[in-house]
Amino acid sequence: MAARYKAVVLLLIGVLWIQSAQGTCDCTADCATNCNAGSYFDNSTSTCVACNPGYYCLGGANAAIACAAGQYNGQSGSSSSSACLSCGTGSYSGSSGSGSCTTCPAGSACTLDETATPTECLAGQFAGAGASQCQPCPAGHFCPSNGLSSPTACSDGFYNSVEGQTSCSSQCPAGHACPNRNESSICPPGSYSAAGSASCTECDNGYYASSSGAASCTICDAGYQCANKTGSPALCDLGFISAAGANDCTKCASDKVSNNLRDSCDDCPAGVACTDPT
Ligand SMILES: *[C@@H]1O[C@H](CO)[C@@H](O)[C@H](O)[C@H]1NC(C)=O
Ligand SMILES: *[C@@H]1O[C@H](CO)[C@@H](O)[C@H](O)[C@H]1NC(C)=O
Ligand SMILES: *[C@@H]1O[C@H](CO)[C@@H](O)[C@H](O)[C@H]1NC(C)=O
Repeated sequence: MAARYKAVVLLLIGVLWIQSAQGTCDCTADCATNCNAGSYFDNSTSTCVACNPGYYCLGGANAAIACAAGQYNGQSGSSSSSACLSCGTGSYSGSSGSGSCTTCPAGSACTLDETATPTECLAGQFAGAGASQCQPCPAGHFCPSNGLSSPTACSDGFYNSVEGQTSCSSQCPAGHACPNRNESSICPPGSYSAAGSASCTECDNGYYASSSGAASCTICDAGYQCANKTGSPALCDLGFISAAGANDCTKCASDKVSNNLRDSCDDCPAGVACTDPT
């Protein structure tokens, strides 16, 4: 009688033990609720695991929560949303759950404190790597397409006086120089330039330009000297002559005289003795 009672009690204890043992194995509900803040329940290993970088974990039964795109969290084991930090302008994170931010690529700008997608610069702009703003293409340069990392200088003989241009459409005008490609400046007297030339050139010997902005120099007329290329031609002195395009006047032979136009040395007039042409 007592033995049968004992057996029943043992059986009951055994059944209860098995039930309670089964209960500890049902972790989908029970164990998950026990995770500490900063960790989450990992189904595959049935353990609480430290929260990964890019996430924060409230603990209990909660799944890890990803930091938003545009944010990052470099630490593991974070327990609150305050662990998610802004990338700041000039860098970005393209997806949620990022452990670090990426430098904004050249040709784009990351303008927001929390940038998920860099903004490509438009034509007329440019940006180097890590930019928070696209820059306008500076004067003297052009930026012909979207997404440029640097501006291109106008080619020789062209200029842009304003910023933000996609081409250098202004040709340097005749009589002007455009050395910095950002403005045109008038050629000074004694020099010239053709249209599309970046610089002014000094007049050749025998040529002059007495005013500024000359497209070409003027040939020195016969009878004149143009040693001063910036001034007006000067008539040769008595006894001197010059041909067209000559820089200086030359003295006539001692037995000759210069004519009024100073373009030829003539024979001594009849009845006069010529020993010095001047
Ligand atoms: C863990 O498993 C449970 C039950 O299958 C499921 O409902 C839950 O979504 C899983 N959690 C994760 C984080 O995979
Ligand atoms: C052009 O460039 C030169 C040299 O960089 C600068 O001194 C000048 O101010 C510029 N002019 C304009 C109109 O931008
Ligand atoms: C050249 O001519 C200009 C204009 O007449 C004058 O101002 C300048 O002094 C002259 N230069 C010389 C070296 O004579």
